[in-house]
Amino acid sequence: MRRPIIAGNWKMYKDMDEAVQLANEIKRGAYRIDNVEIILCPPFTNISEISEMTVESNIGLGGQNCHWEKEGAYTGEISVAMLKSVGCRYVIIGHSERRKYFLETDEIVGRKVNAAIAGGLVPIMCVGETLEEREAGKTLEVVKTQVTGGLKGLSADYLDKLIIAYEPVWAIGTGKTATPAQAQEVHAMIRKLLKELYSEEFSYSRRILYGGSVKPDNVLELMKEDDIDGGLIGGASLKADGFVDMIKITSSLYAEKGE
Ligand code: 13P
Repeated sequence: MRRPIIAGNWKMYKDMDEAVQLANEIKRGAYRIDNVEIILCPPFTNISEISEMTVESNIGLGGQNCHWEKEGAYTGEISVAMLKSVGCRYVIIGHSERRKYFLETDEIVGRKVNAAIAGGLVPIMCVGETLEEREAGKTLEVVKTQVTGGLKGLSADYLDKLIIAYEPVWAIGTGKTATPAQAQEVHAMIRKLLKELYSEEFSYSRRILYGGSVKPDNVLELMKEDDIDGGLIGGASLKADGFVDMIKITSSLYAEKGE
């Protein structure tokens, strides 16, 4: 069975004091849970502090973005090595907000995935269609292009820790969640595509997260779907109680499944 992941993407929220408090509450609330991989992706400025607080805990840390070069004159950017040096194990790549506001293309996403792995981080590569694309019946085509483009030229061995997050753009921050069936359809398509591109084994072992208005009251139904292996959560990850609830709900579900 694939180990489930509950990841919080804090986006551009929380100053240092707020972040420390939130991380502390999550750590306290989730400290007994060992069958869910818990990941927090705070703003860059807070990672170091949270890293010290979560050393030897069941919480892993991730960046929300990275640059593809090792270092250089790239004002305002953060390298993979910098993220590693403050305790990150993961990095979100190609989030739809990065694609939309910072014009990240599949080619850039691919370069970042490559850089993350080369530097020892686990990439969480995001894909997802806009509302117009869904309404035009292009969901599967769009997601297929994003997955194929982001992984172009990279081998299965190289990608052995890759995590994919399916986040339909129309469901992000809108309160409009994809139904479990809508999400499952795309997750199954991604898994099938990974089998075609790589192998059955690679496809089977990949974790594919769903993101887009995941909340305590819809997380269970989403996590019950065969190809949904966790959640990448924005708004609802900013309150400790709700986030811990989602971890616990997922933990109980997988405990029942025999994880
Ligand atoms: P919301 O959970 O706020 O919809 O955001 C999802 C997301 O973008 C996580 O990366």
